[in-house]
Amino acid sequence: MCGIVGYLGDKQAFDILIKGLHRLEYRGYDSAGVALVDSQGNLNVYKTKGKVSSLEDYCKDKDTTGTVGIAHTRWATHGEPNDKNAHPHYSQSKNLAIIHNGIIENYLSLKTFLQKEGYQFQSDTDTEVLVQLIDYIKTQHNLSLYDAVHQALSQVIGAYAIGVLEKNNPNVLVAARKSSPLIIGIGEGEYFLGSDASPIIEYTNKVVYINDEEVVKIERGANMEIRNLKNVVLQPKVHELSLNLDDIEKGGFEHFMLKEIFEQPKSLSLCMNGRLHRDLGEIRLSGILDYGDKFERASRIIITACGTSWHAGLIGKYLFETFCRIPVEVEVASEFRYRNPVIQRGDVLIAISQSGETADTLAAMELAKKQGAFVYGICNVVGSSVARLTDSGTYTHAGPEIGVASTKAFTTQVAVLTMTALALAKRMNKITDEDYKRIIDEFATIGDKIQTILNNRDYIKEISKIFTYAKNFIYLGRGFNYPVAMEGALKLKEISYIHAEGYPAAEMKHGPIALIDEEMPIVVVAPHYAMYSKILSNVQEVKARKGKVIAVVTEGDVDIKKLADYTIEVPQTEECLSPLLTVIPLQLLSYYIAVAKGRDVDQPRNLAKSVTVE
Ligand code: G6P
Repeated sequence: MCGIVGYLGDKQAFDILIKGLHRLEYRGYDSAGVALVDSQGNLNVYKTKGKVSSLEDYCKDKDTTGTVGIAHTRWATHGEPNDKNAHPHYSQSKNLAIIHNGIIENYLSLKTFLQKEGYQFQSDTDTEVLVQLIDYIKTQHNLSLYDAVHQALSQVIGAYAIGVLEKNNPNVLVAARKSSPLIIGIGEGEYFLGSDASPIIEYTNKVVYINDEEVVKIERGANMEIRNLKNVVLQPKVHELSLNLDDIEKGGFEHFMLKEIFEQPKSLSLCMNGRLHRDLGEIRLSGILDYGDKFERASRIIITACGTSWHAGLIGKYLFETFCRIPVEVEVASEFRYRNPVIQRGDVLIAISQSGETADTLAAMELAKKQGAFVYGICNVVGSSVARLTDSGTYTHAGPEIGVASTKAFTTQVAVLTMTALALAKRMNKITDEDYKRIIDEFATIGDKIQTILNNRDYIKEISKIFTYAKNFIYLGRGFNYPVAMEGALKLKEISYIHAEGYPAAEMKHGPIALIDEEMPIVVVAPHYAMYSKILSNVQEVKARKGKVIAVVTEGDVDIKKLADYTIEVPQTEECLSPLLTVIPLQLLSYYIAVAKGRDVDQPRNLAKSVTVE
């Protein structure tokens, strides 16, 4: 939800800001803009509808000089995506410019007040209200920018990560955060501001994570200052980033999504590294070693997440219930947080989030924590809000995921859930040594097995071309592979804009079967386990109505192969590990269909990777 970037130093800021915006474009891309103070003391704002590349074109004949600047790539909340609603926004006096990620909830009452004070507004955004409020407070009380931002934010309800630039003081940038991520990079005589570390990493690995309700002043030739809204002065804690530049570039792949699909053997190996010990036949997860008793004593586990992470959570239910015999509820965070859920002291809440910044997931965690639950996080982004809010947790170590459609984050989340359930089952004596060791042994080979599916990419690409005509798809699966069917459907709709539904295979008879005709593609996730004969019957039901079946089957399958129009094989594995394999062809299928339809795979319309608004 919007990317913000800023620079203050001795270099020309424009190129640094534009590069930073490209790296943050996954967060939103309906308009973009930049504000710079040039050497004559002009505060120039350039902004335009469209992607960052449109902004670059727009700026070609403009004066983009200046060693201080802020920039923004937008995912619209208030006001349609057009030039006037793009950020940065000037204050009426044009002395200030602001960039903002988040929502100012009380913007209407603030706007009415400011209008009465004679302020006029150029845009429909909540952000412009904030910059006018800062301007009003600054001029009324003759305050520095730092103090004015501080005072203004104490009147604001909502979420924000902001950067504010002042025409008459190009040596200072003020930033602040509440519920939207903000990082400051510290270089040699220069500072960077970013929604995440990607615009910063090229220049410095020293960063400060800004916390909620903190206001920051960065100043040329001075140390940064931080003050929270309660007026407490804080010492910046400098962290060293371990991210590297290759992780955030395409590395020869046509799209980030394809790169990330192909990275899965590696990301799973990083995820299991030091945790899954094949030689010892053991899983060592610090979360379970240190807090296993919390899980053991829990009368139930609640898993909450959004989007793809929620699908991983659904697989988690099968894992914990199968191996640990602990009841599990899985709920999308936006529903969980608002339905006044029954949470008891001693419940364990597992929150899953790739970005660690999803607003609904964070709110669900806060709620559960307040009511006495033990909150465990499964998260990819180190130092993110989810990571900081948990009592304990496990990083997925998938590496930066930039394609908006989640792929490697999903498989690493499933891997963490699998390791957690197995380690807990072992601790609780709910799994035999033989089963435990056999699954661990198999788990260690999963990366190689994924690689064999990836090697079959050309066949999947060929099938994909056949189905570009489709307006609808149905995905069916059972057991562990029912959430995989849902994830396959989500991938397809996200990037190809083809409507798709994931269903438990047997449930098809209760509605979706009415949709089946000779045009309708049905993707059946049907590896060879206990429910095979049942899903075989489901395939027969589809074929009897002339649907087109694309089946994901286990190598050597005979029966479904005879019925299906197309089959994609995955290697044999333990049933509990099968989602890690069966999801791969579905990722590739949706990718190649979207490419064949000419879609913008990495930045699909209307979506954003990190959803920091509810
Ligand atoms: C957005 C993304 C999805 C992601 C979901 C949850 O909708 O486009 O890919 O699954 O948010 O995000 P999280 O970062 O919490 O996993």
